[in-house]
Formats: sequence, structure tokens, C-alpha cells
Amino acid sequence: MPPLTKNISRRGFFRRIGGFIANHWLLSTLPVGGLGVLGYAKHDTLALKREHWDLFYPNLPSSLEGKTICQLSDLHLETLQILPESIEQIVMAQKPDLLVITGDIVSTRTDLDKLEIYLGGLTAPYGKFVVMGNNDYSNLSNTLFKRYLQQFQHLGWTPLLNNASYLSDLNLWIIGVDDPATAHDDVDLAYKEVLLSQSLSQPQSQSQSQSQSQSQPQSQSSPPFRLVLAHSTDCLDDVAKNGAELLLAGHTHGGQIRLPGFGPLITNTYLGDLGVYEGYHVINGIPLYINRGIGESILPIRFNVPPEIAFFTLHQGNSQANHQTF
Ligand SMILES: [Fe+2]
Repeated sequence: MPPLTKNISRRGFFRRIGGFIANHWLLSTLPVGGLGVLGYAKHDTLALKREHWDLFYPNLPSSLEGKTICQLSDLHLETLQILPESIEQIVMAQKPDLLVITGDIVSTRTDLDKLEIYLGGLTAPYGKFVVMGNNDYSNLSNTLFKRYLQQFQHLGWTPLLNNASYLSDLNLWIIGVDDPATAHDDVDLAYKEVLLSQSLSQPQSQSQSQSQSQSQPQSQSSPPFRLVLAHSTDCLDDVAKNGAELLLAGHTHGGQIRLPGFGPLITNTYLGDLGVYEGYHVINGIPLYINRGIGESILPIRFNVPPEIAFFTLHQGNSQANHQTF
């Protein structure tokens, strides 16, 4: 069994922290505790958790019964200390049917060179989809961003930038909202094909029906499941207006650092400011999940907020969502 984390010595870990702080002037303004706190933070930074959720829907398409979606988020490859083999081992052991990433994969230009190492070995029978986060935009020129998208496609990932993809075998729409944190989100545009297909599925003449694209949802006993991917939940108002069965987001890092007696370091969303910055919730009628992410930003450490990979298994029924951490 491969090691779960890079073999970083205690001295090496503190050297990394010191070097990072020396190179990032902003960090000198942030409080960092003593060595004991850093030791604890090292543990929390590397303690990758598997969060498994069972979600129940009365009208779930039968094609989705028992299917599992795996969500990665906020890898921040610049400072990520968790080994690619560890991520691959956890993801592939669950045999997910669908893989999604909800943004912030890179933090620097040279992170592009790490993409294949971290994502090349991940596979899923129904596809792999990715949406962008603020860090994916903040350091890349238009030319490098184009190369970035091409790299994803070369590795078998489908970037969704305010557009949607319909998987007819699953009767599933995957609706990708571009990064809300940098105002790239256009939810109505992302839903455009979904709404068009809804209008086409209304009663119509036979000739109209025959001209309908094969890629569009045909009449099904259950309406299509609408899975929305977005880097942050700040698009929730518009998603709620259009409707969704599940919204997967990240961006908050679950707070990333939660010192006793202090609030979380990072929340960065409207909901986060209200205290909702991780986990499963139903808000405005939309079931949503805020992933804590795998990597870090601002400071390359976590404290009381372990990194995670989330899995969602879908079921028909009325039961409450249930959850286990591994
Ligand atoms: Fe992030």
C-alpha cells in the first residue's frame, strides 16, 4: 500500500512553512501559534478524509439508483502536500461512476505541469467534469488558460464554463457554473440547454419529435436529475430560480484554520459569512454540499479542518441524507 502522504520530515515541514511565510508578505500579518500548534496543523493538513453521503430522492431516475459521484475540490497544487497516489487510491477504491472537480486546481502557472500527475490516473465510467475557481483564473493569461483547458480535455476531463452536458444513459444533466468568486458565473446561460430540452419534451408534433437531437433527454418516467457544479455557493439564488437536485461547491476550505475561540480563517462566501461553510444543507429548496477541499490557500496549513474527498451515492426514497466519515 503506498504511503498516504509525502514523507516530509518535521524539520522539512517547518522549513516549508518558514519559506512560504518569507515569500508571502501577507502572512506576516496573520497570527500563527507556536510549534505545538504547527505540529498539530501538520497532522490536520495531511489527514485526508473520505466523506460518504447517501442521498435520497423520491423521483430519482432509475438509471441513477446506487450510482456514486465523487467530488474533489480546491486542490491548490502549488502547496499540496498530499501525494497524488493517495488521492488516486481513495478515489479509485470507491469505483465512482462520475468524477467532478469544483475549482481551484491550480494556484500558480507552473502548477499546470502537475495536472497530469494528480489527475491523469483518475477514471470513471460515466465521465469526468470540472468547473473553474478563482485561483484557476487569477494567475493564467488567456493563452495559458486555453492550454489549461486543453490539458483537461487531453486527460479526459470535460471543462464546463457556463454550459451543461446531458448523460442520456443516466438521465442526468451536469450543469457547470463558471467561477462565481470572480464573477464569471452566468447561471442562466449554464441552464440554457437544460431549459431548451425541457421545452422540447413538452407535447409536440411527431415531426418535431423526430427532429429532436438524440443528445437531448427523451421522454422518461422521471425528469432528468440536475447536478450543478460551481466553485462557490454565491450562485445559489440563480440556481434556486432554475432548480437543481444537487449543487456541489467548494471555495471555503471549510474555514481551513479554526483556532479555538476564533472564527474560521476562510469562508469567502455569502453563506460562509452566515456560518454555513462546509457540509450538506438544503437552502432555498436546493440540496447543496460545501466541500472542505484537499489543499490550502493563503497559509499552507489546516487546523481542525481536515482535507476531504466526498462521495455521494444516490438512492430512490424519502429517507434523510446520511453520512459517514472514513
Ligand atoms: Fe480554494
